[in-house]
Amino acid sequence: MKFFADTAEIADIKELAEAGLLDGVTTNPSLIHKSGRNFMEVTKEICALTDGPVSAEVVALDHGTMMKEAEVLRKIADNVCIKVPLTIDGLKTCKALTDDGTMVNVTLCFSANQALLAAKAGATFVSPFVGRHDDNGFDGMDLIRDIRLIYDNYAFETQILVASVRHATHVLESARIGADVATMPPAVIKSLVKHVLTDKGIDGFLADWAKTGQTIG
Ligand code: E4P
Repeated sequence: MKFFADTAEIADIKELAEAGLLDGVTTNPSLIHKSGRNFMEVTKEICALTDGPVSAEVVALDHGTMMKEAEVLRKIADNVCIKVPLTIDGLKTCKALTDDGTMVNVTLCFSANQALLAAKAGATFVSPFVGRHDDNGFDGMDLIRDIRLIYDNYAFETQILVASVRHATHVLESARIGADVATMPPAVIKSLVKHVLTDKGIDGFLADWAKTGQTIG
């Protein structure tokens, strides 16, 4: 399963890249707002930090304007992936862009039927939002299971990009189901390393090492 960082914070993206934990990045208008950065500038910087796809979201709601915005965004770098909402205009834009060889991430997916439409429109990625699904009394991971089943039934190549990931259990379940990608806040990616027995083991080894009175080097 690929790991995308769900952030526009450059320092976090750099740190994950250096640890080999970064296969791509997703942003959205809220994350850009949170970063306080200029959208075009920060997206360009992010694109230079990874060879993987960097999702940049259009904000228009009609197909014509979405295409104009996509034209601006895709000039930023070769690894820009245009993010469009799961609406009829978004799907039209997805079809036009993917036919033209541009990566597209169809976002705000909350049902398996919506995911079916994204695949039929040729999406590179579909982004089902598991955390927001959970928040509204549904089971986000059931949605991922349904989409995996449907995509496998028809050999759709659209990649399932699990989004709105809130905790390590979402990540584990996504990997068990066979999702292609999970996009996660950096804090969630870093939380995956934590295990009480790892910390306890380090403490024990260091305590014994100190008793040897030795140093390395
Ligand atoms: C990523 O592509 C999505 O925009 C993001 O994961 C949404 O996460 P949120 O529900 O925590 O805002």
